[in-house]
Amino acid sequence: MGYSTLSSPFADLSEAAGIAAAPGCTLAATRIALQGFRSYAESELHVHAGLVVLYGGNGIGKTNLLEAVSLLSPGRGLRGAKLASIPRRATNGEQAANWTVSATVSRSAEGEWQIGTGCMANGNGQPRRVFHLNGAPADAGEVAELTPILWLTPAMDRLFLEGAQMRRRFLDRLVFALVPSHARKSARYERAMADRLRLLREGTRRGSWLDALEKTMAEEGSAINAARHEMVECLNTELNARRAEAAFPCARLSLAGETGDIAADTAVLAKALNASRERDRDSGRTHCGPHTADLEVEHVANRSDARECSTGEQKALLISIVLADAWLKRKCHGVAPMLLLDEIAAHLDAQRRAALFDEIAALNSQAWLTGTDRHLFEPLSQNAAFVTIESGSFITAGVSA
Ligand SMILES: Nc1ncnc2c1ncn2[C@@H]1O[C@H](COP(=O)(O)OP(=O)(O)OP(=O)(O)O)[C@@H](O)[C@H]1O
Ligand SMILES: [Mg+2]
Repeated sequence: MGYSTLSSPFADLSEAAGIAAAPGCTLAATRIALQGFRSYAESELHVHAGLVVLYGGNGIGKTNLLEAVSLLSPGRGLRGAKLASIPRRATNGEQAANWTVSATVSRSAEGEWQIGTGCMANGNGQPRRVFHLNGAPADAGEVAELTPILWLTPAMDRLFLEGAQMRRRFLDRLVFALVPSHARKSARYERAMADRLRLLREGTRRGSWLDALEKTMAEEGSAINAARHEMVECLNTELNARRAEAAFPCARLSLAGETGDIAADTAVLAKALNASRERDRDSGRTHCGPHTADLEVEHVANRSDARECSTGEQKALLISIVLADAWLKRKCHGVAPMLLLDEIAAHLDAQRRAALFDEIAALNSQAWLTGTDRHLFEPLSQNAAFVTIESGSFITAGVSA
């Protein structure tokens, strides 16, 4: 079965931001099967295309299931986990050799796909993630286009308080879904930066090697910088357009960083890198480039920096950004990403929770929500599948699969 190419250049994205949504198709994982995946030996879950509430006590495997769903898209998943930590550890301490997650993913307007992922050893014996699409090996890019997924986890509650790296990663993840080349450019940039630092440390006399690496860093770096700026602009337009009706506070995003201007221009960045060789060698770090940028967020109504907002306000700002991103992607691709919202009800009062449920339903893609207390999700009792986990098996109630 074929499917349309869903990626769109930023030109389309700028046009999409802020305009009314197209009807949009529904994206959903209607079957998830896990093998040797964290706390799951072998389990399968069937759900419908709408909302899924995963509830139950601490440690029963809610986040593990969300992580498995997140791995239907390339990358390290919602825990950012190393592959080696995923295979199931039995109670006697023995670890499974491998893990797999397989799923039936449906896109209402286009059809249904069987997606499988797991890990395999590469030539050096290192684990590497692999994908299958309808039984045949597939590359990550193909799967990424099929399964856009967005998540919010409790670890992200500290987004505004932690260092800039976490915020850069957050922004880059939003960009990856719209500009597939952003991931490749980021990887090339990081590799060239590490090689350059190594050569500087080794005291290389081969300036041409350093020149070539700095050229790569400058080219990829300015493209990374441009894509981030474009994304920030589109998100701001979307956030602003939704301001009047949104239940969550309007955020204004900006990119900051001491070398932001330098990274905007390939030639300027190449020159700056060349000029800072000695300083970089002595300090063991690269002083200029897009890896020094920071994402700043302002709570528009409060006229305050997100760092100074209350815990609940920070959570609301984060939800607001994620929802704006989901709408943007729906306008761009005709489908909203699947949403994985771990412990989402924490810090939200009843009114905000109800507003969130309404917003999620309006997006028309599947959302997975977790919480320890089922009653927090009571407003969804008529339109969500309620799933709990007992001894590693799923028990479903509510709207039937
Ligand atoms: N590789 C693994 N093998 C076996 N068990 C694992 C592995 N990794 C994590 N676990 C265990 O899985 C269990 C369930 O974890 P999970 O984070 O999914 O719980 P949860 O239901 O989300 O709990 P909470 O409500 O506290 O967030 C934990 O006890 C954890 O130690
Ligand atoms: Mg959890």
